[in-house]
Amino acid sequence: MAKVAPSILSANFGNLSYDVKRIVDAGCEFLHFDVMDGHFVPNISFGATILKDINNFDIIYDVHLMISDPLKYAIDFQKAGADYITFHYEAVLKEDIPKVINHIKSLGVKVGISIKPNTNVEVLDPYLDDLDLVLVMSVEPGFGGQKFMENSLSKIQYLSNKKKENNYKYLIEVDGGINQDTSALAVKAGAEVLVAGTYVFKSNDLEKTVEGLKKL
Ligand code: DX5
Ligand code: ZN
Repeated sequence: MAKVAPSILSANFGNLSYDVKRIVDAGCEFLHFDVMDGHFVPNISFGATILKDINNFDIIYDVHLMISDPLKYAIDFQKAGADYITFHYEAVLKEDIPKVINHIKSLGVKVGISIKPNTNVEVLDPYLDDLDLVLVMSVEPGFGGQKFMENSLSKIQYLSNKKKENNYKYLIEVDGGINQDTSALAVKAGAEVLVAGTYVFKSNDLEKTVEGLKKL
């Protein structure tokens, strides 16, 4: 059974609590919180203040930092209620990755690394044993509503094989262009958490849409 992590980037910010309650009531396990700084990605979304204002629901807060300085800002999201904090491999110097992983762990939250579509999944090998989550981007980060990129499937399969062979603990999450068809491909490859923004929040029957994803 796949877990569903609706991305609030596609929610109605005029009535955010209402939309969060809808996904909680629909049985979603995660809320995916897309933080964009207009520098690492060419878009600006929202900061920790918004998370603080919606952190009173019974759901796992899955923060996706698409920002250039995760080391500096991780604590703001931990204080605001993050359960998972995922940073981008491409945002940090290679020699600093262990430092960022350890820093996020020291905040008492779970740590994830995300890779963009053009980043080889093998670059994560040295860190897999330390991670609680790996986020495979199936779109170029920065915007919702893009088309699923099928080259993400081999990365998911690779991570799934590695996890089985080494008994690693990380969750495999996929993010971007997820709908009923693309999620079926992703779950078949080994994805365990499905991030869906447009498909969930723009659906005319949210509960049915979530149910369809959870059944995979
Ligand atoms: C893109 C974000 C995704 C995005 C997903 O940079 O990381 O989480 O909001 O939106 P959809 O599901 O519409 O592709
Ligand atoms: Zn995301």
